[in-house]
Amino acid sequence: MPDGQLPDRAGYHRYPDEQRDAVYRVIAERRDVRQGFLAEPVPDEVLRRVLEAAHQAPSVGFSQPWDFIVITDRERRERIAALARGHRDEFAADLPGARARAFDRLKIESILDTPVNIAVTCDPTRGGRHTLGRHVQPQTAAFSSVLAVANLWLAARAEGLGVGWVSFFGERELAAELGLPAHLEVIAYLCLGYVAEFAPEPELATAGWARRRPLSWAVHAGEFGRRGLPGEESVDPLADVIAAIAALGLPDEAAMAAAAERQDRMIKPRGSLGVLEKVSVRLAGLAGSCPPPLPEPACVAIFAGDHGVHAQGVTPWPQEVTAQMVANFVAGGAVVNAFAAQAGAEVTVVDVGVASALDPAPGLLPRKIAPGTADFTEGAAMTREQAVAALTVGLEIARDLVAAGNRCLITGDMGIANTTASAALVCAFTGADPAEATGRGTGIDAATFARKVDVVCRGLALHRPVVSDPVGDPVGDPVGVLAAFGGFEHAAMAGFILGAAALRVPVILDGVIAGAAALAAAALAHDVTAACFAGHRSVEPGHSIALSHLGLSPLVDLGLRLGEGTGALLALPLLASAARALRDVATFDSAGVTEKP
Ligand SMILES: Cc1cc2nc3c(=O)[nH]c(=O)nc-3n(C[C@H](O)[C@H](O)[C@H](O)COP(=O)(O)O)c2cc1C
Repeated sequence: MPDGQLPDRAGYHRYPDEQRDAVYRVIAERRDVRQGFLAEPVPDEVLRRVLEAAHQAPSVGFSQPWDFIVITDRERRERIAALARGHRDEFAADLPGARARAFDRLKIESILDTPVNIAVTCDPTRGGRHTLGRHVQPQTAAFSSVLAVANLWLAARAEGLGVGWVSFFGERELAAELGLPAHLEVIAYLCLGYVAEFAPEPELATAGWARRRPLSWAVHAGEFGRRGLPGEESVDPLADVIAAIAALGLPDEAAMAAAAERQDRMIKPRGSLGVLEKVSVRLAGLAGSCPPPLPEPACVAIFAGDHGVHAQGVTPWPQEVTAQMVANFVAGGAVVNAFAAQAGAEVTVVDVGVASALDPAPGLLPRKIAPGTADFTEGAAMTREQAVAALTVGLEIARDLVAAGNRCLITGDMGIANTTASAALVCAFTGADPAEATGRGTGIDAATFARKVDVVCRGLALHRPVVSDPVGDPVGDPVGVLAAFGGFEHAAMAGFILGAAALRVPVILDGVIAGAAALAAAALAHDVTAACFAGHRSVEPGHSIALSHLGLSPLVDLGLRLGEGTGALLALPLLASAARALRDVATFDSAGVTEKP
């Protein structure tokens, strides 16, 4: 119901407009502050008011588990700052190249730049055994102390005091420095002081480290996944992303023209950067600006899944290898990890459908739709619902990686037997002959190859896909085709490509699996190709067929047939160089150099 129509009773306790606005204002203008602190001390009465606000926070069973340790002593703060420095260095050493450079420019604490620090603690035993609510969820004790922090943070903003939260501590190390009894834990370490100004946006957003997620991504109606703001139609993320891509009108012709024109004025013979000039023009067309943003930091997402068609003997590799390779990616021991380290990219592994259960690990996103697909020679590989779920997983991962600050996404894959599913998808989407689109994958003998072609033929005969023309108007039923033949990794990757395009972020495609996924994405939203860059040409024949249908030219052609994202990673420096040249190279007019007549 619109505000103005509230019945009297419902709005009775509402604050007068000005006071209500002040509440929303302090919420919007609260900032985590790390720089620009003034030397002025914080008067005790101000500090008391802020602590009083913290002390009024809600708490589980009214247990009020917090204590506040107010630290002004310089020597103690120096010891605490040294603890934080150690963890900062450790974190920095673990970052991929582009992230490490960005992190170098960030300030993560102001322990010594502020006149007062406050540690907020939690006593999870306070109130005894029958604390209402905490008996089922012990973690609610810590949640309560966090609410005290939130109150303190807001009150401080209203007082004109900046607050910065530092979490670069081993909790026990800090507890020892603060003399905490063993049963208390440190919840937050806050640095407070007056500031020259409050930034309008989070500093991490201004620095390009991370972006704000729109509210509509976070609100679900009734159950997880039914997104939609109150009063608005519930949003279908896939339909939404397809509509968003169409609305962008990609590529932006004006930005492309500006980029092409700038290439001609750059201090070099016209056209001398060859294909890279076209890449820079395409990047500008995607971003809608000239010069376009540099495609860094970059992240490769390796989508992993198993395939029912493995049962048909299309590969000599046992299915367990998918899970074993996932463990290897997470441990950092695969070729993709080496190439990512070299290119300065992050590696994320996504379990969308590995047959076995995987142990949780940092860098592994658990998004399993099912433990492997069904055999497409016997029925559909996935249900339609599973295909949509996998597409949605992929587009949400793209959004999350972009919100986390990435400006280039790279496709990777792992799934024993996935070249068979890829060949079937390529045939379904392009009408190619299975004998031409099917390849030898990891390396198979003539008998296995013949069987693989036959498997693809049988699948096509069974499902009779409506052939789509991905570069013309989308026709047929792309989700149905994905469901018939695809792996979960194909569907998730198609969603990933769509998600990136909707956010105008480039996606570097790896080999045949990515090519097949891109055909599906293009059949769903044909402008998506404006966001796609073909990293390399795989030796899998289906890959070249896919690329020519998509109208994409591979950036490198090195005879690779590994997958994982390896070929795409090799192209990352090419994309980055193309964008950087367009941005940094002087023009004849600016440099005062005479042009060739
Ligand atoms: C639990 C928590 C821990 C945080 N730890 C740090 C930290 O160690 N260093 C830092 O610079 N900022 C830290 N922050 C601040 C966040 O980076 C900041 O809140 C976020 O970027 C959003 O910006 P805003 O608070 O200005 O809206 C932390 C924030 C929270 C809530």
